[in-house]
Amino acid sequence: MGGSTVLHTVDAVPLARVPPTSFRAVPTGISELDRALGGGLVPGSVTLVGGEPGIGKSTLTLQLAAEQVRCGRSVLMVCAEESTTQVRGRAERLGGLHDDLLVTSVSSIDGVVDLVDRHRPDLLVVDSIQTVHLASATGGAPGSAGQVRACAQRLVVEAKARGLATVLVGHLTKDGSLAGPKVLEHVVDTVTELAGDRHHALRLLRVSKHRFGPTDELGLFEMASAGLVPVDDPSGLFLADRSVGTSGSVVLPAMEGHRTLLVELQALVARSTTPHPRRSSQGVDQRRLALLLAVLERRVGLDLSGVDVYATAVGGVQVTEPGSDLPLALAVVSAATNRCLVAQVVACGEVGLGGEVRQVAGLERRLHEAHRLGFNRAILPASAPEPPAGMTAVRVDTLADAVVAAGLSPGPAGSGVVVSADPVVSTEPPPMG
Ligand SMILES: Nc1ncnc2c1ncn2[C@@H]1O[C@H](COP(=O)(O)OP(=O)(O)OP(=O)(O)O)[C@@H](O)[C@H]1O
Ligand SMILES: [Mg+2]
Repeated sequence: MGGSTVLHTVDAVPLARVPPTSFRAVPTGISELDRALGGGLVPGSVTLVGGEPGIGKSTLTLQLAAEQVRCGRSVLMVCAEESTTQVRGRAERLGGLHDDLLVTSVSSIDGVVDLVDRHRPDLLVVDSIQTVHLASATGGAPGSAGQVRACAQRLVVEAKARGLATVLVGHLTKDGSLAGPKVLEHVVDTVTELAGDRHHALRLLRVSKHRFGPTDELGLFEMASAGLVPVDDPSGLFLADRSVGTSGSVVLPAMEGHRTLLVELQALVARSTTPHPRRSSQGVDQRRLALLLAVLERRVGLDLSGVDVYATAVGGVQVTEPGSDLPLALAVVSAATNRCLVAQVVACGEVGLGGEVRQVAGLERRLHEAHRLGFNRAILPASAPEPPAGMTAVRVDTLADAVVAAGLSPGPAGSGVVVSADPVVSTEPPPMG
């Protein structure tokens, strides 16, 4: 034992002596995709694009591929899910038919790797990871959890070894549980999800994991016949068809990641014909609505028994943040009393069970965006920051104060609020215009 030398087969190095990384995102040429990804795709990285069936994953990845080819990079698209003829049809429709865009419907990963060896693309797109298979992997048919994981792992190894930017499309069911993106999230570098309401044109690309940048950016697109069109000014999009002068409408400066979207929240209150009045919501959380109705009943004195309440976020957007409490509650009061808020007002704040109005994140940014779009008054929690010059902050401690401040109280301002539900079925003629 004594004097023999020990051979070190493995070693550790000081971190500072590891060569610095020089990863650089390559712009995709699609502005909203670049924004979501923090600049573009990093060579050697693997990005997952998840989403429900028919939401536009193949459209987005084909547009990405076409744009890369236009910029002089080579792309291999594996369209195991569709025939190459179908992909050609889509490319024609999207104006993305290029001689240099390579497409294959091969579904074995060994075949894909062989094609990568031969063509040495700068970008590999696999649509979808559920339809490819790896012969050496046990675990059943394509799409099974074992196959999906094995295929993705193999593609990650190839991507790293070659510095090949890789995009995988993954199906996501409503509950997000199938052998889909959930299995893959640990394996890939970046996880994105294309989401939206299929009946509306708006599509949001959210990033939930990103090894090369922040995850709070968001890409916004509109689905058109020519494909996904980047939306630079989303607030305009949501408010375009707003009917000013109708009761039950309040605008929320909402935050999605780093972006502010001005979203109109609407409520409708109608006399119920059933013993169990309806509480129906679209784009806003049903349980949150029920909670706000209880707070309105107990803390503001709004009697909502015997009426149906409907609430929506306009434009197919999902509003789940706490800041929507105050505008949603005001929309319900407005609908119930048949009184309108002034058109140039926004409201934002969380409402507690005691009827207190609480601070929410990002108010400064929200107010700037609201002001930019012509809003000059904001109903806000008492501790809210100063609004931009030209905008008035109406600070409220409680929801009851907010109802008075919004001019929805039947009594003179400041008289304390007890609103009767009667005007629901009412009394005042609907405002004109
Ligand atoms: N001819 C067309 N004109 C306009 N829009 C179209 C047309 N064909 C398809 N679309 C739009 O594209 C959507 C389908 O997009 P795409 O095939 O990219 O979705 P996907 O997420 O890849 O779906 P899948 O899960 O089936 O693969 C349709 O829901 C529709 O909105
Ligand atoms: Mg598809």
